[in-house]
Amino acid sequence: MTKMKIFEYPDPILKQKSQPVEIVDDKIRRLLDDMLETMYAAAGVGLAAPQVGILKRMVVIDTHDEQEKQTPHPLFLVNPEIVSYSQEQICHDEGCLSVPEQHAEVMRYSTVKVQYLDYYGEKQEIEADGLLAIALQHEIDHLDGILYIDRISRLKRQMLLKKLQKLRMEEKEL
Ligand code: NI
Repeated sequence: MTKMKIFEYPDPILKQKSQPVEIVDDKIRRLLDDMLETMYAAAGVGLAAPQVGILKRMVVIDTHDEQEKQTPHPLFLVNPEIVSYSQEQICHDEGCLSVPEQHAEVMRYSTVKVQYLDYYGEKQEIEADGLLAIALQHEIDHLDGILYIDRISRLKRQMLLKKLQKLRMEEKEL
């Protein structure tokens, strides 16, 4: 497995729409493995293919809690699609590996049902709530070129991006 480079805001690739995967073959599985390794190395909960420069509809997610000593439980989702969602919404603090060290509260559906192809190309359906529901919505957004910062107020986004800029300037000075 290989660790991949994570593209960060404002790289234009993050704004692009990803294309569906036609066949889940060994090449796709290798990419999914590499994405998972990259996500674990960066201590992320989810990663979408455009974040590693690939405009294909692929997502990896693992919401297991290391501090709670839960065992890893990776989810590989190819061509994921939200087929239904709850009326109820929740507000949750989100971050993103493409927007380093920032976070903001985002409104999401509290429950979603998602259809996708798994690691072996089999059709699957998952109904999720809690952190997994949020992660699914966040990652599927990436496949449509949407970042969580696109879903917060302009004022909050400007403040967050200013902090990101400051962080990058400090990193350059080191
Ligand atoms: Ni993200």
